[in-house]
Amino acid sequence: MKGVLIYIVLSSLFLSTLSQESVPTPRPPPNPQDAAASARYLIAQSLWGVLSTLAYDMGGAPFGNAVSFADGGIGDPYFYLTFIDPTTANYSLKDQRSSFTVSQHPLQTCGVNDTQLPSCARVTLTGKLIMVDENSDEAGIGKRALFGRHPHFAGLPRSLNFNVFKLQVESVFIINIFKPPRFPKVDDYRRAKV
Ligand SMILES: *[C@@H]1O[C@H](CO)[C@@H](O)[C@H](O)[C@H]1NC(C)=O
Ligand SMILES: *[C@@H]1O[C@H](CO)[C@@H](O)[C@H](O)[C@H]1NC(C)=O
Repeated sequence: MKGVLIYIVLSSLFLSTLSQESVPTPRPPPNPQDAAASARYLIAQSLWGVLSTLAYDMGGAPFGNAVSFADGGIGDPYFYLTFIDPTTANYSLKDQRSSFTVSQHPLQTCGVNDTQLPSCARVTLTGKLIMVDENSDEAGIGKRALFGRHPHFAGLPRSLNFNVFKLQVESVFIINIFKPPRFPKVDDYRRAKV
């Protein structure tokens, strides 16, 4: 009986550690006028977004999927995707063109403001969704970033066939001030301090 109790306590501790996600200690946000830094800040702070790829089995229509991610250090977000899901990862094998959208709203720092008010930032990165070679150093970097932010990923069995992917960023779109959308330079986005 005592053994069972200890087991329950230990496993619930284990599970609660595994299921907790870690948000970095927030730095103060950059000046909203700085589009590149603001975009990078939102990507560095966020836990999830919508990753869109082109659905060859739906006539090539864009198909969005809500996914967890981590900023790997140079602004190319890393994802952990499985081919058991026949959409996102699978689509990228045929056509790598992809976009990834994040809203500030889930961070709960927009107050009661609507998601579509410019004062609630949103960023869309476009580029190529690439499967990272699982034997490369980069796969290790991606896994460390992903498992750090989303500890439950570390416990997934290999049989589920999860692989590290990254969006190689080619353009950055941001709305975060009352002006038309801005497209900061990718180099400035990459260099911005997180
Ligand atoms: C991608 O999806 C197609 C159709 O569902 C399937 O035949 C193929 O095996 C999938 N590719 C991978 C790598 O799982
Ligand atoms: C909500 O939006 C207004 C502008 O419409 C802005 O002045 C205010 O700072 C926003 N609040 C938050 C918490 O972002």
